[in-house]
This record gives sequence, structure tokens and C-alpha cells, in this order.
Amino acid sequence: MKILLIAGARPNFMKIAPLVHELKARSKTQGAWRKKLGLKSRELEYKIVHTGQHYDYEMSKVFFEELDIPEPDFFLGAGSGTHAVQTAKIMTVFERVCLQEKPDVVVVVGDVNSTLACSVTAKKLNIKVAHVEAGLRSFDMTMPEEINRIVTDSVSDYLFVSEKSGIDNLKREGKNRKQIFFAGNIMIDTLYYGLKKIENKKLRKSEIEKKILSPELHAPGTMRHADSYAVVTLHRPSNVDDKDKLEDILLALKKISEDMDIYFPVHPRTEKNINDFKLNYLLEGSSIKVTPPLSYLEFLSLWRDAALVLTDSGGIQEETTVLGIPCFTIRENTERPVTIKKGTNVLVGTNGKGILKAYKRFKKGRIKKGRVPKYWDGKTAQRIVKILIAHK
Ligand code: UD1
Repeated sequence: MKILLIAGARPNFMKIAPLVHELKARSKTQGAWRKKLGLKSRELEYKIVHTGQHYDYEMSKVFFEELDIPEPDFFLGAGSGTHAVQTAKIMTVFERVCLQEKPDVVVVVGDVNSTLACSVTAKKLNIKVAHVEAGLRSFDMTMPEEINRIVTDSVSDYLFVSEKSGIDNLKREGKNRKQIFFAGNIMIDTLYYGLKKIENKKLRKSEIEKKILSPELHAPGTMRHADSYAVVTLHRPSNVDDKDKLEDILLALKKISEDMDIYFPVHPRTEKNINDFKLNYLLEGSSIKVTPPLSYLEFLSLWRDAALVLTDSGGIQEETTVLGIPCFTIRENTERPVTIKKGTNVLVGTNGKGILKAYKRFKKGRIKKGRVPKYWDGKTAQRIVKILIAHK
């Protein structure tokens, strides 16, 4: 059985890592088990395809190194571009890979342009498609990721769902129940893996903290090593591509930073816009500590001890729920409703007023307590690989 694992953008790398580890372990034990029984070994073969959607070291390669993912077998070199250009580039090169490799299954994760491009390409070649993190819906078609999710699910043969809402959404869209598998949240496999790595490698941890806290990474300002601090990430085009919106959000962050330090690893898109819109004045001289994009372990070691996380990312809403850290999601909606229903996540909207209103409640100690959702237990990759092998 031959599997191609697809990853292209930053949030994909932590989702393929547990699958790579599980497939590696399985292919070894499967071989030994079959040999013992004198059976002809049917190889479990897997290859990694990196589309190149994200290419900077901090956005890509460092994740492979830290999460023990081997070098990709194929690098498609897609790079940046408009959605159509990026998607088309990935499709064109990935089609050649499929024709050469003839895989049985292509596994795509998440909701980025690489997910859509590779699922559609594979399906048109009659190759089975497995989508990990299927069924999530924000019901907001202005979000490119929502379009990617819907299209990917519509061509997928195996739909691996991370939360119950995914099952409901897919059933509503007419998917066959037999194709839907409640496998759990794959990112949480990586979260536990990363936490263990940080604990095991004390030296590494101190290095990470040194880098995060090193003054040269920060905007000039007062350097307080306060006990409680917040962490912010912002990259969604709807928040950062409009000057007024970005300014309003940064103003709210500046206000919060009067109470506690804020660490702000800046996505390239956001950095570019802050410069283009001349909004640096809001960061300079404040307690907002700006850093370049961080590696997975650096970022984890930072946010896991934060008092508060503010983000417009998808995955961070889930990760904070697992570690019980309050999360303000700077969006009007979320495709991950379980983080609101059961977790520590609160939707605060996309303007400064909403952020500060939620912060006021937080400051008064009105902090949401949460529970860990079902199957967010670090064993999702095991369940997925078992299902893929059983169904072949
Ligand atoms: C993509 C995903 C988004 C995900 C995010 C995480 C889609 C539609 N969006 O958005 O869901 O949450 O990744 O980071 O797939 N750039 C660099 N270096 C890189 C990559 C990009 O500088 O390694 C810059 C380029 O100028 C590019 C911009 O960042 O134009 C945006 O990159 P792109 O891949 O288009 O989308 P993201 O905003 O990163």
C-alpha cells in the first residue's frame, strides 16, 4: 500500500508529523509480523510531498527538524502567488508526482491551498483521497479556507473528523456515514509530542527561552519579565490586509500591554502590512515584544505558560483548549465550535472594542474554564493509520 502525505503550509507540518511517526512504526512492525507468519510482505510505503507553499526557514524547514519529520521525498516549489496561481502551480507539479508514484491514497490535512490542490488533482486521477480534519465549517464563504474545506471534503473518500460538529456538517452535506471517521484531533498528538520534547531537553528549552526573551528580537520598549504575559498571533487577510482594521486591533493590544507584556511572533504577511501601513508606531515603546515567526517548540514553550492568548489562527484555538489557557479568538466565527462549547475559547470579534470588552472581563477574573474534547488524546494518528490499512 502506497500513501502520499501532503504538507505545504505551516499548520500542515504539525498535522503530518504524527502520521509519519505512526506509519514508520507500523511499516516496521507490519513487516516483522508478516515475516513471522511466513506471509508475503505487502509493503506499507509512504512518501512525503512538500508543496512549497511556505518556504521560509521559520515557516517550514524548522518544523521538519523539530518534529522529526524526514526530508520530503518531493518538494514542489510552489511559492507565493494569488490563490489561483498558487493552487494551479501545485496542481500542475503534483499531477506529475501522482502519475509517477501511482499511490493508493493521498492524505491531505487541514484547509490550506495545498490541501485543495492536491485533493482535487489526486481524485481526478482516480486516486483515493483521505482528508484529516474534515467537516469543519465556519459557514463564512469569504474565508479562503472555508472554500478549501468544502471542496476537499467533496472529493474525499475518507473523512477523518476532529470534533463532533464535523460529523454533523458532513452528514448535512449528504456524505455517506461510512466514509466519516471520528478519529480525533491530530494536532493534539503533536502538542503532547512537543511538550515531552521540551520537558526532556532541558537545554533545548533554555535555548528556546533565551531566543524568545533576547532583547534584540524585541521592538524597543520596556523589557519587563512579568510573571503573567499574553501571546498574540495575527495573520488572517481579513484582519491584517485592511489598514483601519489592523490599526484598531493593534491599538487594543497596546492598551492590554499597559497591564502585561505581550509577545507577538509576526507572520510575514502581517509584518509587511504593518510596515506598508506605517503602523510601527503602535509597537515601538510599548510592551508588545515583536519576534519573527517562531518554530513549533519555541512557540509552544512561549504560549503554554501564557496567561492569555489572542489569535486569529485555527489550530491555536484548539491547543489552548487542551492546556486550559484562556484564548480570545479575533474573528466573528469559528469552524471549531467545540473550543467554545467545551473549551477555553471566546470569540471576541475583529474590532478593538470587542477585544477590550473581553479583556475587561478577563481582568476581573471572569475566566472561562474548559474541558478537553473527546479523542483529543494524542492517539489520533494511530486511529487514522489503522483505518487506512483496514480499508485498503
Ligand atoms: C496560509 C493558509 C492559512 C494558514 C496560514 C498559516 C491558505 C489559503 N492560507 O496563509 O490558512 O493559517 O498559511 O501561516 O492556504 N510568505 C513568506 N514566507 C513563506 C510563506 C509566505 O514570506 O514561507 C509570505 C508571502 O509574502 C505570501 C504571504 O506570506 O504572500 C502569505 O502566504 P500564503 O501561503 O499565501 O498564505 P498565508 O497567509 O500564510
